[in-house]
Amino acid sequence: MRPRVTSGIHGLDELIGGGFEKGKTYLVSGETGTCKTIFSLQLLLYGILQGEPGIYVTVDQNSDHIVEDAASLDWDLKNYIDMEDFIFLDATPQFKNEQDEFSFTEFFSELKSYVDILEGKRIVLDPIVPLAARFDRYIVVREYIRRIIGLLETYDCTTIITTEIPPGSKQLSMLGVEELFVHGVIVLGLQRRGNRYTRTLLIRKMRGTPIDLTYQTFSIRPGEGIVITGPLIDE
Ligand SMILES: Nc1ncnc2c1ncn2[C@@H]1O[C@H](COP(=O)(O)OP(=O)(O)OP(=O)(O)O)[C@@H](O)[C@H]1O
Ligand SMILES: [Mg+2]
Repeated sequence: MRPRVTSGIHGLDELIGGGFEKGKTYLVSGETGTCKTIFSLQLLLYGILQGEPGIYVTVDQNSDHIVEDAASLDWDLKNYIDMEDFIFLDATPQFKNEQDEFSFTEFFSELKSYVDILEGKRIVLDPIVPLAARFDRYIVVREYIRRIIGLLETYDCTTIITTEIPPGSKQLSMLGVEELFVHGVIVLGLQRRGNRYTRTLLIRKMRGTPIDLTYQTFSIRPGEGIVITGPLIDE
């Protein structure tokens, strides 16, 4: 059995057999504003406290904005960046031409060199969709995502990839393939209760681990981030 790593998400580890399996890749999916980025940051920040440096791959999102938003949770990313425990890697410059062709080889060799330099143990790719957006044939997208996840798993890092779920859809991901190749899937959402929404988390798939397919509720708390508060009560 592979060792488990503590996710840093309060209340999650006991629901997934003690934590994420070291070196495996997981998908965090959800509609916009469901806390995919907070979840991802929390995994990396907790990793740093465990002596596991982290690499956060952004695509189309300014890392300065992520730093600013994290400050609202009392997370001082700049401090960790200065200490070289945390690094942002912006994948946007790797979209080289008007066809938005993504330099797969260059990008992943750059990522691997950061893993080596930092002795990185946790990676976040938030979100994965733009990397495959130029392909329109299902089979090509599927192969491409399979290739990315296969490569990430050679790095021996515990990795989160995120993907958006189109609003109102029953899909688990934007491309419809991201969930196939990962070791586990966590779906973040919002469920209506009376006149307000409640934040929910569903452990949808966890290979090799028994799971309770109950929606959990969670809150966002300064300093702590996502805190699971218990099962969603049926209306
Ligand atoms: N300091 C905070 N305290 C409480 N809630 C917060 C705080 N900061 C952010 N949030 C909540 O988290 C939500 C967004 O979280 P996050 O950016 O992780 O979502 P996302 O799923 O990554 O969204 P996107 O689709 O834009 O990438 C916000 O809409 C806000 O409600
Ligand atoms: Mg986000």
